[in-house]
Amino acid sequence: MWSAALCIGTLAVICIINWVNSWRNPRCSGKLPPGSMGLPLLGETLQFFSPNTSSDVPPFIRDRMKRYGPVFRTSLVGRPVIVSTDPEINNFVFQQEGRLFQSWYPDTFTEIFGRQNVGSLHGFMYKYLKSMVLNLFGPESLKEKLLPQVEQTANRNLHMWSQQQSVEFKEATATMIFDLTAKKLISYDPATSSENLRENFLAFIQGLISFPLNIPGTAYHKCLQGRKKAMKILKDMLQERRASPEKRHGDFYDYVLEELKKDRTILTEAIALDLMFVLLFASFETTSLALTYAIKLLSDNPSVLEKLTEEHEAILRSRENPNSGITWKEYKSMTFTSQVINETVRLANIVPGIFRKALKNVEIKGYTIPEGWAVMVCPPAVHLNPSAYEDPLSFNPWRWEGMEGNGGSKNFMAFGGGMRFCVGTDFAKMQMAVFLHCLVTKYRWTPIKGGNIVRTPGLAFPDGFHIRLFEKHT
Ligand code: HEM
Ligand SMILES: *[C@@H]1O[C@H](CO)[C@@H](O)[C@H](O)[C@H]1NC(C)=O
Ligand SMILES: *[C@@H]1O[C@H](CO)[C@@H](O)[C@H](O)[C@H]1NC(C)=O
Repeated sequence: MWSAALCIGTLAVICIINWVNSWRNPRCSGKLPPGSMGLPLLGETLQFFSPNTSSDVPPFIRDRMKRYGPVFRTSLVGRPVIVSTDPEINNFVFQQEGRLFQSWYPDTFTEIFGRQNVGSLHGFMYKYLKSMVLNLFGPESLKEKLLPQVEQTANRNLHMWSQQQSVEFKEATATMIFDLTAKKLISYDPATSSENLRENFLAFIQGLISFPLNIPGTAYHKCLQGRKKAMKILKDMLQERRASPEKRHGDFYDYVLEELKKDRTILTEAIALDLMFVLLFASFETTSLALTYAIKLLSDNPSVLEKLTEEHEAILRSRENPNSGITWKEYKSMTFTSQVINETVRLANIVPGIFRKALKNVEIKGYTIPEGWAVMVCPPAVHLNPSAYEDPLSFNPWRWEGMEGNGGSKNFMAFGGGMRFCVGTDFAKMQMAVFLHCLVTKYRWTPIKGGNIVRTPGLAFPDGFHIRLFEKHT
């Protein structure tokens, strides 16, 4: 009896030791990059998410680069991961999309975003969805429709904010951009809608990077609830539109309804709703973070603000009617502004990791990336590399002078790279430029409180950024 128990006990211990051992030393037919897999199951997840207030390469990455070199292995959210900080490997990973690598996000993300979202769609389906997105946010639409709409929205909001004692800039820009994007996508109007779509998105975002424990009270639970409610609102809106199909709104739902009517379509209502959700999320949180960070950097660097203001005042001076709207030609002439935007997104590192999955064993630079493993391309390590950007932590838009035209640069990946390059890049840049134009020509501001950043490792403003806006008197 006792010996049997002892036997089972010993067996269990041996099994556990074996398991821990194979966790620490994963099987691989070639040479794995160096690194540590951390604790069983948990891996190095907690270290990865540990908050830091610096804008430099996250300590998690920096320490391991020092110890292991530019490519290393780890384990995050239950998955073996190869982290690459090497510009050439990053570029290779982007270029091999669909062949050796495929877009992949941690399972908690898939659970949260829906199974059929644009991030996890591949091949034919994906190309088809992309063309739908480009239809709304592509160059033609930017030029003809979005430019004046963005300008009106910016002017209206700035005027409203200037009437207040204090504006929390992050929240205010997020609301502004959300309302504009939601109007374009689904004709959502917060003033007339009974349900608050953005509130549900907020709950969703707050729990997005949290421990995946789905019980009432946790941030993760609120996140899933937020998504559920937002999806229901989106679905009800689509149903309503289906009920009166003759009325056209010129938005994304028109497009979806049109497609759903076709016989040979592969679009389903579920996919369309997931896509809508991802687009709303991808567009407003990223761009409002970038704008808030830009205003923070401009507040701290008066010489940049001065040069930026000069560029925009010169545009007004060369106009026949200073009150006419921004033209496409004027937008294209904002050289310094676009340097400011590049420099802001370089330092902001809004997307701190871009994930892929290896479809086969991949040999690169003497290492093997095993089939099925995740690869995390790490933009901050590239954007803050002193051999590509001198004095990398300083906000110096002038460094972009003469760098125009090499769009596929291996040293710039704030919007990703290769086939999955951000489809909203042009829209985001245009929104930022137009907003900055309206801001610096008509207003000045003083920071009141907040403006501190934290990275977990995604960028956040934990106490917001409160400013006071004043109208300029000329
Ligand atoms: C400053 C603002 C923005 C930043 C920094 C940003 C960054 C990124 C990055 C790094 C990716 C690549 C992800 C990957 O390769 O897995 C991406 C993809 C994407 N972005 Fe953006 N983005 C911004 C604004 C926008 C806007 C305004 C929209 C929508 C209109 C948008 C829609 C998308 C979509 C749909 C994808 C997925 C594309 C795909 O999987 O192929 N983004 N974004
Ligand atoms: C951030 O990282 C630095 C460098 O690794 C470290 O000294 C600091 O304690 C970290 N924590 C915070 C909260 O910034
Ligand atoms: C901003 O960066 C992009 C991508 O590297 C580049 O194509 C563009 O020319 C840059 N803009 C300026 C004004 O330097």
